[in-house]
Amino acid sequence: MPQVFYRKYRPQKFSEVVNQKITLKLLTNAILQNKIAHAYLFAGPRGTGKTTVARLLAKSLNCQKRKPDEYEPCNKCASCQAINNGNSLDLIEIDAASNRGIEDIRSLRENVKFPPSSSKYKIFIIDEAHQITKDAFNALLKTLEEPPEYVVFILATTEPEKLPATILSRVQRYDFQRLSLEDIEKRLQYIAQQEKIDFEPEALRLIASYSEGGLRDAESLLEQIALISEKKITKEAVEELLGAVNVEKIKRFVNYLLKKEKEKAINFVYEIYEKGSSMEVFNKEVINYLRKLLLLKISPGLARILEKEVTPEELQTLFKQAQISNLSYLETLLRKLIEVQIQLKRTPIPTLPLELFISETLE
Ligand SMILES: Nc1ncnc2c1ncn2[C@@H]1O[C@H](COP(=O)(O)OP(=O)(O)OP(=O)(O)O)[C@@H](O)[C@H]1O
Ligand SMILES: [Mg+2]
Ligand SMILES: [Zn+2]
Repeated sequence: MPQVFYRKYRPQKFSEVVNQKITLKLLTNAILQNKIAHAYLFAGPRGTGKTTVARLLAKSLNCQKRKPDEYEPCNKCASCQAINNGNSLDLIEIDAASNRGIEDIRSLRENVKFPPSSSKYKIFIIDEAHQITKDAFNALLKTLEEPPEYVVFILATTEPEKLPATILSRVQRYDFQRLSLEDIEKRLQYIAQQEKIDFEPEALRLIASYSEGGLRDAESLLEQIALISEKKITKEAVEELLGAVNVEKIKRFVNYLLKKEKEKAINFVYEIYEKGSSMEVFNKEVINYLRKLLLLKISPGLARILEKEVTPEELQTLFKQAQISNLSYLETLLRKLIEVQIQLKRTPIPTLPLELFISETLE
């Protein structure tokens, strides 16, 4: 069974991690100076490298060949290999989503008492740490306060605000950032080249823009598309898989909104729906598009913010549309479409929220 992309391309060295510059700088400095905390918290959005960096830290701390003036793990010694193969006795990964109760934490506390079997440190990575129950957190507290010298905890979470203050005050916190569109695009290009996959640049850009700053989702999407594409990954194929609607069409729809052409707008929504596109995805794209118009309407100088998202030709079209639109109308459209986005999640008739929106707003 071939490895899935996001595992195959999990960085094996700190230098391969994309973004997270400050976190990496602080952590690698700590490794070099041998100032290791007993409890870390890695907080941030999905697929931004929390588990990856936690494993790298574990690997580096327990590496048998690493010299004092290096921070990268060697990836060759027995300890590094065991961690890479997921069978190190001294790296314990706990998924708090399924081991969240007091009993689980008690057995963890028992485990902490035993020194590492063959390494310097015994490292516990607790994923989805916010899922731990209140009682279990209390049980964990004592261990976090006075852990044995050889123990390092790394808590990872997408929702740090759910952790109790008592835990937060006992951990060294690192915040992981969403990756930029450009970073994701570059990483996808790299993977595609490694895998000898041919692609249209716009296809990868589209994948990147859908994954909202998380690399795992982007890599999984790339893999799915590669599987169904015969020769080359095209923008159309990506649009189809995502149930997306291409920019030309969004532009047309937005024109109907700007010119208040109710009937055309409603017909258009129905057409899009008939073709099998997701109304949620469609609406989100319309919102994205209108936001660009809003920014350009506020000030043409804001085009700077959009440079990473649109091509120069698209920008020209946007400028033209911004000219014929009116600021307060754009604000109204956007505010209402955000409500539509929420309604789309629970409407009995998929097209209805947009139809109502058109009927009420395009007077
Ligand atoms: N900063 C990054 N640099 C390089 N690859 C990354 C990065 N972040 C994520 N990835 C890719 O995405 C995959 C998943 O990343 P990881 O498991 O570290 O995410 P996570 O932050 O722990 O997400 P979750 O909150 O969903 O657990 C990795 O195997 C790797 O392929
Ligand atoms: Mg993770
Ligand atoms: Zn090693």
